[in-house]
Amino acid sequence: MKVLVTGGLGFIGSHTVVELQNEGFEVVIIDDLSNSSVDVLEGITAITGKEPVFEQIDLREKASVQEFFKKYADVSGVIHFAASKAVGESVENPLLYYENNLGTLVYLLQELQKKDKAHFIFSSSCTVYGQAEKMPITEDAPIQQAMSPYGNTKQIGEEIITDTAKVTNINAILLRYFNPVGSHESAEIGELPKGTPQNLVPFITQTAIGLREQLSVFGDDYPTADGTCIRDYIHVVDLAKAHVKALKRLIDNKNESNVETFNLGTGKGNSVLEVINTFEKVSGEKLNYKIAPRREGDITEAYADTTKANDVLGWKAELTIEDALASAWKWEKKVRGKE
Ligand code: WQD
Repeated sequence: MKVLVTGGLGFIGSHTVVELQNEGFEVVIIDDLSNSSVDVLEGITAITGKEPVFEQIDLREKASVQEFFKKYADVSGVIHFAASKAVGESVENPLLYYENNLGTLVYLLQELQKKDKAHFIFSSSCTVYGQAEKMPITEDAPIQQAMSPYGNTKQIGEEIITDTAKVTNINAILLRYFNPVGSHESAEIGELPKGTPQNLVPFITQTAIGLREQLSVFGDDYPTADGTCIRDYIHVVDLAKAHVKALKRLIDNKNESNVETFNLGTGKGNSVLEVINTFEKVSGEKLNYKIAPRREGDITEAYADTTKANDVLGWKAELTIEDALASAWKWEKKVRGKE
């Protein structure tokens, strides 16, 4: 079956393309290369022995989206990663986020609704829960007022898909990621943040390799054991495998309703200091960091209740945070030619 992966040259997208091709799916990638590089195609090919079809398209151009679906009329499965995802940037430039994350989603769904049957998997985020009351977080935890336009586009995106699936032949799965980290063990693909990394793990590896002077730990006065925030860091390869499981569930019509939601995490929380200590252990590097003021908008704690993903989706994270940090470090060294 031919599957469209939008944002397929990005961090999670490229790892998902690898797992799809490993499972025999034929993949077509759309990417606008705004936050990725065409070199990622080589990495995917090196790992799987197969080069996916690649179309450089800006999904904000409705005509280009229509063109694509005319050219690839046999695509009936879409895994939609393409979106802007920097929380801070979304506050500065909300319209960029509403256009790029929601306008494009509408254009894709408008094409899919013309098909007899279509399967749609949406890259959502635990950010929709805000600071959840209860840990671990289940899929029926209340959706809280978004803390940023980025988070709002995930919430609205889920609503657009839910409303559309009700009245079309599109069945959909919403995957709410916790914190994706790590890289493929081959170090052929990995996280390639452009500019200064917003996220913790790439900042750690860039500090350890000497690209960044020092890591700032954003606050150690949170109500947690060591005062730093807790997150559920899930290996990107485990996350990628969950997408293949979700797609197969839709193709085999196993979904119990036309829209299902799954939290994708390990079910375990780690604090920032625990991540730093684990990184030092697996890398043998001493990390240069300091305690800095809290970052605006950060929540204290989030980790997933993985019961539904385990029991219904039939997926469970297998890799550990040690695996993730070791692979992230191996990738960093390779990218900086220090392997
Ligand atoms: C993790 C922890 C920071 C950087 C965001 C989005 C989420 C998803 C993942 C896109 C926090 C601390 C970080 C640093 C630090 N994004 N930190 N120093 O904020 O949990 O989630 O990224 O899909 O939707 O909300 O991830 O990696 O930015 O931060 O101390 O230099 O690390 O305060 O506690 P976050 P993160």
